[in-house]
Amino acid sequence: MPHDIISGDRHPEALPLAEKVREEERARIARDLHDELGAHLTGIKMALGLLRESLARAQGPEQPLEQARYAEQLIDEAGDAMHGIIDDLCPPIVEFGLAEALQWQSRMFTRQTGIVCRQRCGDGLDELGEFEVITLFRIVREALSNVAKYAHAENALITVERQGDVLTLRIEDDGRGFDLASAARNGSGLGNMRRRAQALQGTLQLDTVQGKGTTITVVAPVAR
Ligand SMILES: Nc1ncnc2c1ncn2[C@@H]1O[C@H](COP(=O)(O)OP(=O)(O)O)[C@@H](O)[C@H]1O
Ligand SMILES: [Mg+2]
Repeated sequence: MPHDIISGDRHPEALPLAEKVREEERARIARDLHDELGAHLTGIKMALGLLRESLARAQGPEQPLEQARYAEQLIDEAGDAMHGIIDDLCPPIVEFGLAEALQWQSRMFTRQTGIVCRQRCGDGLDELGEFEVITLFRIVREALSNVAKYAHAENALITVERQGDVLTLRIEDDGRGFDLASAARNGSGLGNMRRRAQALQGTLQLDTVQGKGTTITVVAPVAR
């Protein structure tokens, strides 16, 4: 199998703390968006609703009423967009632990893409910390997003097993694989996944064979 040349960070020893700080920052931004912007959007939506009702009662020209309805629709869209950003910054499912989060993610993936995604999670994952769970979840999400975008796969499989203090996460697809040398120049997703693995003090290995599929393997220590 071709060995992998996607580089991680030049100073991986500084990553765990930097990534933890970033995750805390993401969670804070998610909270602020929800509490501050969310409250404003709700207020604007209520004010627009009242405006629409009084325009309807006044029985004046149709156009202002139409505009009020349209503005309400735009507010709803802004609310949906905001919730999408919040979910991305701080995926709520992660609170339920890795196994549950991956089960949810693989179900969503199958529904959205038609690619059959299965997941097998072994025992001993309940003790994983929040940072470990969110980091592994983000790696899986990026890997699956690549499967959806590029692999032309029929199946994907996520496995997580823990043996003692070592956790192994694998994301496999049976798609068309790719040429690592040219992929390294393309996006930042693969490098981000590797950095996340390093932030867990772990490693990420990428095995891909053109025409046969791709496997990403993350091996990381877990604190007891
Ligand atoms: N599972 C996969 N199957 C096929 N090709 C892949 C897969 N994952 C990644 N690739 C290839 O590697 C490239 C780099 O991926 P990535 O770093 O995630 O960047 P991006 O997703 O932003 O393009 C992709 O453009 C694609 O050509
Ligand atoms: Mg990508």
